[in-house]
Amino acid sequence: MTETWIILGATSSMARAFARAVARNGAQVLLAGRDMADLQASASDCALQGAPVAEALHFDARDQATFAPIIERATALEGMINVAVFVGSMPTQEAIDADPSLIAGTVTDNYAGPAAFLQMIAPKMEERGGGTVAGVGSVAGDRGRIGNYVYGSSKAGFHTYLSGLRNRLTRSGGHVVTVKPGFVDTSMTWGIEGMFLVASPEKIAADILTAVEKRKNVIYTPGFWRLIMGIITAIPERLFKKLSI
Ligand SMILES: NC(=O)c1ccc[n+]([C@@H]2O[C@H](COP(=O)([O-])OP(=O)(O)OC[C@H]3O[C@@H](n4cnc5c(N)ncnc54)[C@H](OP(=O)(O)O)[C@@H]3O)[C@@H](O)[C@H]2O)c1
Repeated sequence: MTETWIILGATSSMARAFARAVARNGAQVLLAGRDMADLQASASDCALQGAPVAEALHFDARDQATFAPIIERATALEGMINVAVFVGSMPTQEAIDADPSLIAGTVTDNYAGPAAFLQMIAPKMEERGGGTVAGVGSVAGDRGRIGNYVYGSSKAGFHTYLSGLRNRLTRSGGHVVTVKPGFVDTSMTWGIEGMFLVASPEKIAADILTAVEKRKNVIYTPGFWRLIMGIITAIPERLFKKLSI
């Protein structure tokens, strides 16, 4: 079956591993992001892996004028349209405490920008009667904690958005999988101390692909994070508010 994967935030190492995997499966790939040289290199790699179409396209979550050309290109291609969202940014909570104006960009990168893009493309997916959205959120979105609550709340907003979009797209044969990674070894987490059970970007990409194929609704990756977050979310608020986890 001919299909296209639009990959938002395609310079992420998780996104790169995911793009290679779907290219190997013969999908058309549109790699969207800000660093065009990096995206071109990935597009060449995807073509070598077997993608019949592999292109780099400019996407900036903070500039909605960049969205329409990507959607036009995807709709010009035959087959189902799928979208994988890897876009995100995570200023430190200390930086945000010092400069609250950083909140707006954080919310746009993790939630408002991707959500606006998905709102624009949803009618095209509905017209074609299917397609999958894989949205990368975070375990940080499951509970606000002292060290990361602005980033966490932006991911929580994205999770809730994806839940509603799943409800909508299901009606036309489409699907949405919400992906909640734990700690992953990427440029976002480079140099951060105190991380544990760190996963590789390839592991996350493989879990996302399996979840897409099995039409899972919400996954934790690696899977043991479901248990960890089950424990963390079960801690009573009167106790949790005194913890620094
Ligand atoms: N690493 C972890 O432990 C972890 C855990 C849970 C969830 N996540 C989530 O996983 C996803 C991928 O992150 P990563 O860890 O692979 O880090 P990353 O390498 O920093 O990837 C983030 C991606 O978002 C893009 N991006 C940021 N702001 C953008 C904007 N305004 N417009 C367009 N693209 C923008 C970056 O593009 P540029 O190259 O242009 O900056 C990059 O492609 C993110 O959503 C992140 O929140 C990561």
